[in-house]
Amino acid sequence: MSKIDRNSTHDAEEDARNDNIVIYVNGDLVPKSQAVVSVYDSGFMLGDGMWEGLRLHNGRWAFFDDHMDRLFNALKSVSIDIGIGIGPRDVLDILNRTAEANGMTDDAHCRLMVTRGRKAKPFQHPDLSRFGPTIVAIVEHSRPASGLQAKGIRLATVPQVRGLPMSQDAKYNSHSKLNCVIACLQAEQAGADEGLMLDPHGFVNTTNACNFFIVRRGEVWTSTGDYCMNGVTRQKVIDLCRAHDIPVFEKNYSLYEAYGADEAFLTGTFGAQTPVAEIDGKRIGTGDRPMTTRIRALYTDLVRENTSG
Ligand SMILES: Cc1ncc(COP(=O)(O)O)c(C=O)c1O
Repeated sequence: MSKIDRNSTHDAEEDARNDNIVIYVNGDLVPKSQAVVSVYDSGFMLGDGMWEGLRLHNGRWAFFDDHMDRLFNALKSVSIDIGIGIGPRDVLDILNRTAEANGMTDDAHCRLMVTRGRKAKPFQHPDLSRFGPTIVAIVEHSRPASGLQAKGIRLATVPQVRGLPMSQDAKYNSHSKLNCVIACLQAEQAGADEGLMLDPHGFVNTTNACNFFIVRRGEVWTSTGDYCMNGVTRQKVIDLCRAHDIPVFEKNYSLYEAYGADEAFLTGTFGAQTPVAEIDGKRIGTGDRPMTTRIRALYTDLVRENTSG
């Protein structure tokens, strides 16, 4: 299968304006062609950094506090010092300055990256990261490709798992995404768009880039959350189900239940809720997706509410 036939949950409409954006790099807004970090940077050298993906609606960053909670928790956990006195309000200022400089108020996506910074020598020890942190915010014009909602994504179950928290906790949105990249490659080799990853016990867990839900007999199921990203969108979907009396369960389940689901969908900041068309070549449900459609509408309203003046 050619690459052209493939989709990804991060497919965006082409936008030529992105060739001329400015990018925030350590205090400066610089043209994209000049936006660089050192080859000694901890993020480049070791994947030693954390990032967040956020979306801009109506001039506001959706669920900003949730994203900052996750980012600052992760930075604290791996002792990356973002700078004395620097807090979420300073990060908000960085994101707003960057969006404003690019004339963006809607349909923009930010990849905010914080690494341990530039190292004195090209070795692993964190003490060598003496010139940190490195903070970069790339904000691009970004509208999710429209066709995917009708078509749905094709998943393949992959051998790569997201592991136990004492190896590398799946809750770290770390610069090193090698675990997920390997899963994505395996899915591609199987002719699918994205990899469905199991947990170390063989229960259905997550995909390589999104959280995963199934709908069975009127109930919404997702994994326990022990081995996957603590996705902001995942939590919003669970909260919305609870608020609207939709039965929702975080539980162990196997491929048996996933293959036999009536609907399945992925969640993530970029694509919100993306329907799943098939898993391992098996069609999911009949193609009617009333629950996914309902949850997507509730989520759209929630984003609007969260980003209104
Ligand atoms: C592996 C993985 N799962 C799920 C998500 C979705 O998280 P969120 O809903 O916070 O965008 C991400 C996004 O960073 C991710 O990298």
